Amino acid sequence: MSEDAVRVCFVCLGNICRSPTADGVMVALVEQAGLSDRVVVDSAGTSAYHVGEGADRRSAAVARGRGYHLTSRSRQFVDADFQRFDYVLAMDRSNLRNMQRMAGARSFSGTLRLFRDFDPHSPPGADTPDPYYGGPKGFDDVLDLCERGCQGLLDHIKAERGW
Ligand code: 4NP
Repeated sequence: MSEDAVRVCFVCLGNICRSPTADGVMVALVEQAGLSDRVVVDSAGTSAYHVGEGADRRSAAVARGRGYHLTSRSRQFVDADFQRFDYVLAMDRSNLRNMQRMAGARSFSGTLRLFRDFDPHSPPGADTPDPYYGGPKGFDDVLDLCERGCQGLLDHIKAERGW
């Protein structure tokens, strides 16, 4: 891993549906771009509800259908994460508010923003809707949004770094 690696953490509520999906998509895009030694990808949840669990089987199934492998283990986002990442990306505004209230956010010098703000086709301030209590379409929609947002994020990082 090169020293100037960019470190990205996607954060949702449970860390079993949305952020593991964004994580898996981003890892695939980074690999395709030949940047695996320069971009570190992780995910976490603002809650501890599902700590230790792998991705929700519904998220894993739709991801597998498009060739992505979701490898996350749910963990809670902690203050120390603000020192480990350059980009902390919230999947919705509630996740963003919860992290903005954490002590570590005050001295954070990186980027704490909504994930969909990196998708040029999403309106500003848009949430990635929580699919957990809904039907299968919600999981497919999350995957669509993750593909768009991760491509936009990778384009942004490449432009920022001059890669
Ligand atoms: P996620 O989805 O935040 O995208 O992982 C959820 C998972 C679990 C719960 C809510 C949302 N829950 O309430 O247990």
